[in-house]
Amino acid sequence: MVTVNQQRVLRKRTYLMCSPERFAVEYAINPWMDVTTPVDAELAVRQWDRLRGTLVGLGHEVHLLTPEPGLPDMVFAANGAFMVDGTVYGARYKHEQRAAEAGLHRAFYEAQGWRFIAPGETNEGEGDFAYLPEAHGGLILAGHGFRTELPAHAEAQEALGRPVVSLHLVDPRFYHLDVALASIDDGNVAYYPGAFSAASQQVLAQLFPDAVLADDADALAFGLNLVSDGANVVLNGAATRLAGRLKAAGYTPVPVELSELKKGGGSVKCCVAELRL
Ligand code: ARG
Repeated sequence: MVTVNQQRVLRKRTYLMCSPERFAVEYAINPWMDVTTPVDAELAVRQWDRLRGTLVGLGHEVHLLTPEPGLPDMVFAANGAFMVDGTVYGARYKHEQRAAEAGLHRAFYEAQGWRFIAPGETNEGEGDFAYLPEAHGGLILAGHGFRTELPAHAEAQEALGRPVVSLHLVDPRFYHLDVALASIDDGNVAYYPGAFSAASQQVLAQLFPDAVLADDADALAFGLNLVSDGANVVLNGAATRLAGRLKAAGYTPVPVELSELKKGGGSVKCCVAELRL
């Protein structure tokens, strides 16, 4: 079913971001990272500032984490935890280079007084977990295959009390769920089928018959690494066809430029953790 010009409803969000002041590509832990390609940190900060301003301009609240020396990927704030209805399931990073970020996120959540559950299993927070509050009363989608390990899916279900649907990522360019799939409102998603195993594609087709699908080029342009408030979809400006499909489905695409952060293997969503209070 194609829904044209349906009225989409914005829900005010609270986000967590971290400035890329210390962003660099000093190691390569995903296929996008190349330590020989120079990064313009100043441009990264300008682009990130525009993203933050865009979210604030849409009426959302943005909390900030302080960037730490020696943690050049801290700008990718989505990986630090996964929060559902006031409970925070902490991250445990796969790679040693990012391990120390977990404690900084934990300190933020604990300072706010929110219930924090420390993980025993390897998982990269919202990089591999998405939440759909209106799908079957609240459904968690979880990726595995590259970063988050399958036992973390069961651990998240026990921590958060919501059913977790495991999805198998099979293409290393889409090493996190949030580069292959995004929630576009409380009950629907956009995704790139080619990032998933055949069985996981079947699961997604069954759960989300009205999903917006991205093509190869838009997925590789990080178009799915988007942040939606239910009406406005902030996404990488290069993903033009995806923007058109979202518009046809009644959403308002809000393109942003994040070329520098792409060198780290991330875009809009990687920079933004949603705080679901
Ligand atoms: N360089 C970072 C890494 O490989 C990028 C993380 C992107 N974050 C995301 N949520 N996909 O870990």
